[in-house]
Amino acid sequence: VEPLNVSEYEQLAAGLLGAAAYGFFAGGADDELTLADNLEAYRRWQLRPRVLVDVAEASTAASVLGEEIAVPLLVAPVAYQRLAHPDGEVGMARAAAAVGTIMCLSSFATSSWEEVAATDVKRWFQLYVPKDPALAAELVAHVRAAGFGALVLTVDTPVLGRRERDLRSGFEIPEHLPIGLLGPGRFTPRSAFEAISPSVTWSDVERLASRSELPIVLKGILTAEDARLACEHRAAAIVVSNHGGRQLDGVSASLDALPEIVDAVAGRVEILIDGGVRRGTDVVKALALGARAVLVGRAPLWGLVVGGEAGARRVLELLRDEVELALQLLGCRRIAELSPAHLAPRERR
Ligand SMILES: Cc1cc2nc3c(=O)[nH]c(=O)nc-3n(C[C@H](O)[C@H](O)[C@H](O)COP(=O)(O)O)c2cc1C
Repeated sequence: VEPLNVSEYEQLAAGLLGAAAYGFFAGGADDELTLADNLEAYRRWQLRPRVLVDVAEASTAASVLGEEIAVPLLVAPVAYQRLAHPDGEVGMARAAAAVGTIMCLSSFATSSWEEVAATDVKRWFQLYVPKDPALAAELVAHVRAAGFGALVLTVDTPVLGRRERDLRSGFEIPEHLPIGLLGPGRFTPRSAFEAISPSVTWSDVERLASRSELPIVLKGILTAEDARLACEHRAAAIVVSNHGGRQLDGVSASLDALPEIVDAVAGRVEILIDGGVRRGTDVVKALALGARAVLVGRAPLWGLVVGGEAGARRVLELLRDEVELALQLLGCRRIAELSPAHLAPRERR
């Protein structure tokens, strides 16, 4: 039977993947406190619907960094997608294109940038800065030439978090899947990360912005302090994120960090968010709190595992339809009508 929601896709995916690969995709750092809290944070808000509004013509259309998208939902950068399904990043790109949104391609993709570019998807490139400066410069030039519209610099991963599921299972990326940035070889997530610089700082952000001439999106901001610095260092947008609970365990759920960041930014840069989004109602909650769009990591990944390109597309369509339904039932015709008045904190019992 066809799955009806993201959670059913995850259950199917868990049965299809080997234990080590499922642990890599599903898992988080240390005790996975933040991993769990990312989802729970959405349940701590209740929706306040308004009625007797004509919602016959509701639209989920949105825009980010001047790019029109059909739904305020982007595909987050996720490494090693050909491990999920042979369609890999190319299948994910076609799925994103089919629903009219942007795909962020990971630095650790297992499909080539050219193949992804050939799908014509709206695309941003997620950057981990290599230690080798020549490789770093070459990478940026290459990405620009391949038509990526923004650089998503991931800032919460100077070093890799400790993911005990992977250490226990001995998870390795199979040799037959060459990693974009590294080429062929035998890697664990940890050994692959040895090529990445732990020394990137705020001054590199401005250098990257001028060298690449691409908008810079800083992914992994969790505090008002860093959000202010992002505004001062030429970021075009930020992603409020804790890397899906895979980096520093015990940080706040990304949704809980959103209000202080919305305040601190005061409209100067666009604010995106990811972590724990599994339902259309999650999306409208993040938007009501001031995010412009959300990124989804694991949700479309489970679709990719279950049905390749078609499965990833189905998950994105389900989420899009859930967003539309939530909007209509909230009494909104457009995304821009969502506001904090649509939310109330849920009483703890
Ligand atoms: C298996 C996996 C691999 C990931 N790989 C990357 C990556 O290469 N680069 C990156 O910036 N973020 C990476 N992330 C983090 C995602 O971009 C995103 O922040 C996170 O998945 C959002 O949480 P969600 O999975 O609950 O939607 C990865 C996440 C997962 C689950």
